[in-house]
Amino acid sequence: MRFANRINALQPSATMAVMEAAAQLRAQGVDIISFGAGEPDFDTPEHIVASAKTALDEGKTRYTPASGTATLKQAIANKLKKDNGLDYQANQIVVSNGGKHSLFNIMMTLFEEGDEVILLAPYWVTYPEQVKLSGATPVIVETKEADAFQLTRDQLLTGVTENTKGIIVNTPSNPSGAVLNRESLQAVVDVAKAHDLWIISDECYELLVYGGEHISLASMEGAYAKTVTVQTMSKPFAMTGWRIGYTASAPELAKAMGKFQGQATSNPNSIAQYASETALNEEPVFLTGWRKEFVERRDYMIKTLNEIPGVSCLMPEGAFYAFPKISGLFGKKAGDVVINNDMDLTKYLLDAAHITVVPGSAFGAGEHVRLSYATSLDAIKTGLDRFAQAVNKLN
Ligand SMILES: Cc1ncc(COP(=O)(O)O)c(C=O)c1O
Repeated sequence: MRFANRINALQPSATMAVMEAAAQLRAQGVDIISFGAGEPDFDTPEHIVASAKTALDEGKTRYTPASGTATLKQAIANKLKKDNGLDYQANQIVVSNGGKHSLFNIMMTLFEEGDEVILLAPYWVTYPEQVKLSGATPVIVETKEADAFQLTRDQLLTGVTENTKGIIVNTPSNPSGAVLNRESLQAVVDVAKAHDLWIISDECYELLVYGGEHISLASMEGAYAKTVTVQTMSKPFAMTGWRIGYTASAPELAKAMGKFQGQATSNPNSIAQYASETALNEEPVFLTGWRKEFVERRDYMIKTLNEIPGVSCLMPEGAFYAFPKISGLFGKKAGDVVINNDMDLTKYLLDAAHITVVPGSAFGAGEHVRLSYATSLDAIKTGLDRFAQAVNKLN
């Protein structure tokens, strides 16, 4: 069968590949512990679920305006004001089927063939693929673990050419958990202003910060006009399956993205929109407990990973991922298995320890693997014991 070139060039999600391999083993009765999860393991809070039920009972089951209901946009504008000190009107907001869809709208609206878009490695797996789908070329600028994944103006400038049109920033970061500090954000703003670039600021993990301070890029002086903020209901409200994300941007860009969405998908699910409105209008008191639990798991995970020879891990300040450096294990062997890279280690950990991790090369950082701590502390303890035992067998 022959398919369009854009599909041939697309990489399947690495996370999905690991999940599928694990699912096959599970189907054979093997007890697999997964560190692959990209979603909170909590249930959507009851009052949000109740509001969806009410929406159904009230017959709010029809098309809504393609870019979202007026009342949800107002709730979003209020949130952006309250949490981020940002002033947006309804005509600057587009509500979509998740943050991933919001990002796709941005790429399709802003970029095309001949354009270059800067990504900071380690990056979320979807960015390069979506940039490529738009016809543009992703240009990778590496950030280093030694710098706590922060960045400087000079580092960023290495990726800028006359074709550069935008830069994608993700804070807190998936996969590293790094929260970009004011100096790093200033570097982004300086370079973007000097070269008239769009800033795409993915802040999907904003409410899951345990150290450092989350600063919304659009709130930095001079950044507002050309920054598109991407947000989601998925991570902070444990609503991954509901599929609601949104952008806040200049009105002209919102209008253009609304036009694209209107022809591509129409409105996101009406019931999920009403439930999201409730989620944003109520104080998220449940987050205090979730954060406490994430911190407990994170602290255990980072301490334990750092006790494994050949493995070292920075303390992540946000999201729910650990991103240990595992290149200290490269060249080691167990029987006829040789660990030459992150993919080998991922396979070895699945076969020998029955745990799943995500190889760092999927995020543009092959010296690392990613472990999610959005799983119970008991599972984390057992899984990391198995990780340590499997590493002990290497020599
Ligand atoms: C960095 C980042 N941005 C955006 C998303 C999109 O999430 P959703 O489409 O569920 O809103 C994810 C999900 O894993 C993510 O990790």
